[in-house]
Amino acid sequence: MKSLFKRLFGLTPIEPAHEEQAVQPQREEDEAPAMQPKPVPAEPDTADTPEPFTARTLRYDVHNHILPGVDDGAADLDRACDCIELLIENGYEGAILTPHIYAHHFDNDENDLRERFDRFINDLAGRFDPFKFDLAAEYMMDGPFLDKLYDSPEQLLTFGPRDARSNRGDMLLIEFVPAILPANMDDLLQRCAELSLRPVLAHVERYDFAVGQAGHERVRQWRALGALVQVNIGALVSQYGRTVEQAARDLWLNDLIDLFGTDMHRTDRAASALPEAFALLTDEPSHFGPKAQHSLFAQKNSSQPTGHRMRSSAQPEAEPELDEDFDWPAGPT
Ligand SMILES: [Fe+2]
Repeated sequence: MKSLFKRLFGLTPIEPAHEEQAVQPQREEDEAPAMQPKPVPAEPDTADTPEPFTARTLRYDVHNHILPGVDDGAADLDRACDCIELLIENGYEGAILTPHIYAHHFDNDENDLRERFDRFINDLAGRFDPFKFDLAAEYMMDGPFLDKLYDSPEQLLTFGPRDARSNRGDMLLIEFVPAILPANMDDLLQRCAELSLRPVLAHVERYDFAVGQAGHERVRQWRALGALVQVNIGALVSQYGRTVEQAARDLWLNDLIDLFGTDMHRTDRAASALPEAFALLTDEPSHFGPKAQHSLFAQKNSSQPTGHRMRSSAQPEAEPELDEDFDWPAGPT
C-alpha cells in the first residue's frame, strides 16, 4: 500500500534539516538553507522533476472558514471578501469552503450550509471571477458525526474527485480533539473505505498524538489505510507558534503531508504567514506536498472527464474552461 501511495502521489522523501536551521523562514543566499536540498542530478528526468513551486502550484485552498456567519470564521460578507482577496493575492485560483460541523459548538446542518453557500455565491455577484468556489465541511470526530457516517453518509459534505460508485466527491475533512488519541480511528478508516471516501485529517500538526516518532508511525499507518494528511500552510512559519511550527516541519521532512490548507478564519495573521510560507516552499526543492495535492485530483479525474467542476460566482451554471493538466475537484452532492 505504501509503495502504491508513493507512486500515485509522487512523494519524495528529503533529509531532515538541522534543528537550528529549521526555524528560519527567511534566508540570505549565503546562509545555509533551512531545508537541505536534495542533490540535483546531472541529467534530471523531466518526467519526475516537479515544476518550480509558486503559490499557484496549490491552485485552490482545501480548508478555510470563509463562508460568512456560520462558525468562528468570517463574520460577514465583507470579512469573507477580505479572505478571498488575500487568497487571490497569494495566487490561489479557488477555494473549497469548509465550515465547522461540531456538535454543541457549531451545530451546522448540511442543507442549511448548502443554502448559505448558494446565497454567498449570489451575493458575490461575480466579484472575484474567475476565482472558483466549492462547499465541503470540517467535521469534528464526535458522536453525531459518526452516527451520520454510518447511518446517512449521503448527507456528508465532501469534496474532491467524484467517486464513480457514490457519485460524489471522495474526500472528507475531519478534525480531532488535539490532546486525545482517537480511540475509534480504525472504525473511521474502515467505514470510509466502505464508502469509498478518503478521510482528510485536518491540521495534523496540532495533534499531540501525531508528533514524535510514535506519532509519525501512527500517521504512516493511517495513511497506509487510506487517510490523507492536511497541514495548515501557515504552521510552517509560526502562524500558530513555534511548537506547532516544529511539528509541521517534522511532518514535512518525514514525507507525511498530502495536502496543504490555509484554515483561514480571518486575514490578520494569515496576511503575513501566507507569503512567508510560500517563500519557504519556493526555496524548498522537493515540492512533495503541492505535487501530491496536484496529483490527488489530476490522477483521479483523468479517468472521470465528466465530473462536475467548481463554481464561479460569475457563471454559477457554466462549465469553466478545461485545464489540460488539471481538473477542478467535484462539487458536493
Ligand atoms: Fe478549520
